[in-house]
Amino acid sequence: MNELNPSSTIREFVQDGDRILQSDCIEALRNQVKPGSVDLIFADPPYNIGKNFNGMLDRWSSNEAYASWCEEWLQLCVKSLSLTGSMYIMTSTQAMPYLDCFLRERVEILSRIVWHYDSSGVQAKKYYGSLYEPILHCVKNKSNYTFNSSDILVEAKTGAKRKLIDYRGTEPKPYKTKKVPGNVWYYPRVRYRMPEYEEHPTQKPESMISRIVLASSNPGDVVMDPFSGSFTTCAVSKKLGRKFIGIEQDIDYVKIGLRRCGFARNLDGQQLNSPVKIFTRQASSSENSAGLFAGKA
Ligand SMILES: C[S@@+](CC[C@H](N)C(=O)[O-])C[C@H]1O[C@@H](n2cnc3c(N)ncnc32)[C@H](O)[C@@H]1O
Repeated sequence: MNELNPSSTIREFVQDGDRILQSDCIEALRNQVKPGSVDLIFADPPYNIGKNFNGMLDRWSSNEAYASWCEEWLQLCVKSLSLTGSMYIMTSTQAMPYLDCFLRERVEILSRIVWHYDSSGVQAKKYYGSLYEPILHCVKNKSNYTFNSSDILVEAKTGAKRKLIDYRGTEPKPYKTKKVPGNVWYYPRVRYRMPEYEEHPTQKPESMISRIVLASSNPGDVVMDPFSGSFTTCAVSKKLGRKFIGIEQDIDYVKIGLRRCGFARNLDGQQLNSPVKIFTRQASSSENSAGLFAGKA
């Protein structure tokens, strides 16, 4: 691990060309990222919905104030993208229209993706509960961008039990069983019991980020996440042979990143350990009675 600029407000950690920056993202994007140097950006900012990020309350004074903050970092993200670069942008369903209108004037929006998941919390009783989050897939140049469709193929579900035959050509042949995913993605949210779980309130699934990294970057490309959180994007990019820049303002989340990306096992005299998980299982009534009888036998 190599720590640069200890006197600046930005704390930088570098390893094998990968970078973790503890910083406000606007400051880091402005001063630490070369224009045109990034091939893929995945940005998952606070959504303006009142989440608590380790003491930082995710709430702006108005929709307009939130939108204008987003426009500032989005503009810098666009500037940092290479000519063939791609960006995936997330926010809440209610805020996405503001970002969509801003971005469509500056980049090409190729897809409006829906990340769908099952509810794990309290179910809405008097309205239709939200079971998705939107993701914009944008590119700088719609005639020249990376999209490795063969790396992200999924099973094409026809509903048929046997293989369907395509009779339209000169010779009958079975229909292809693989296809490029559409714009509705199902990935379960990260749960406590999953091995990838970290102590972060809005951790994104590695499986979903893998699809994005595989499709929109090549090995050796630079992937940047300006709101790294638990550093999912960086960890996945590293596993897939990409270089990364991860920006995050909260030191406790940066510590997760340093450990998860293999930079360090301790920082400032503190050990960086994976979350300790305690599993308790409610004994079923049959187990209870078995235990009761076992004890008396
Ligand atoms: C929605 S979470 C990102 C979650 C991440 N995608 C993951 O998989 O863990 C947003 C993160 O942005 C961080 N953040 C908020 N404001 C920031 C800012 N101005 N600059 C840098 N990071 C910021 C928060 O601390 C939080 O960890």
